Amino acid sequence: MTLELTDVTLTYPDGDTRLTALDNVTVTVPKGSLTAVVGPSGSGKSSLLAVAATLITPDSGTVTIDGTATAGLGRAELAELRRRRIGIVFQQPNLLPSLTAAEQLQVMSHITGRPRTDARELLAAVDLADHAHRRPHQLSGGQRQRVAIARALVNAPTVLLVDEPTSALDHARGTAILDLLTRLTHERGTATVLVTHDHTHLAHADQIVEVHDGRLTSACVQPPDRQVQHGRERDPQPIGE
Ligand SMILES: Nc1ncnc2c1ncn2[C@@H]1O[C@H](COP(=O)(O)OP(=O)(O)OP(=O)(O)O)[C@@H](O)[C@H]1O
Ligand SMILES: [Mg+2]
Repeated sequence: MTLELTDVTLTYPDGDTRLTALDNVTVTVPKGSLTAVVGPSGSGKSSLLAVAATLITPDSGTVTIDGTATAGLGRAELAELRRRRIGIVFQQPNLLPSLTAAEQLQVMSHITGRPRTDARELLAAVDLADHAHRRPHQLSGGQRQRVAIARALVNAPTVLLVDEPTSALDHARGTAILDLLTRLTHERGTATVLVTHDHTHLAHADQIVEVHDGRLTSACVQPPDRQVQHGRERDPQPIGE
């Protein structure tokens, strides 16, 4: 298993009391599979990603990434874990305005210590090989999201966390991003978690997790014959094996 959240509870300060954003949540995401997280606004989806990304330490429960339990790791060790193993795509692409697409990735290469040659290959993987020299204002919304996805892959992460990457896009562009994420998940073997409010995206998921008021109300493994298939055929194994 690549990403495991077990009995995770997270609260935030809320005046004199505390608000429970995640209530005893357990999720397992195997390597090379995509888990979709759905639920109403404020239900705890981004909080779930933030805990999985080790950006927030939960009040209780454990997060295990690639067999490494994160509890007890210090800030520097967590930062190192993120640098080596985790890719994050936020809802807003957060690109640096003055840098070209290739440079956005090269900055990340520098931070993570990965070779610069990866930039071209990754931009090609998101079908932007011809746009490497463009700055964010010269790219469409979908192209910016694709640069952000390529940037999240610079450190060859084992865990890829994606928060509503298509919310600002029209349906066709949103579907193209989902196709891309599904393909990259299978090709690169990442444990991918995707927050989405668009139920048409669920056909891409191996597992669908529903969150309400911080509680996981349903988690279902989607049979392979109901999934959108990309590239090579996948083994029709149920999640958990
Ligand atoms: N830093 C914070 N401090 C206090 N409360 C917070 C904080 N971040 C989120 N919350 C609260 O925690 C709950 C879960 O928020 P979260 O951002 O995880 O929801 P979400 O499902 O991602 O919502 P959306 O679909 O609107 O993005 C909400 O009630 C929110 O108001
Ligand atoms: Mg959110």
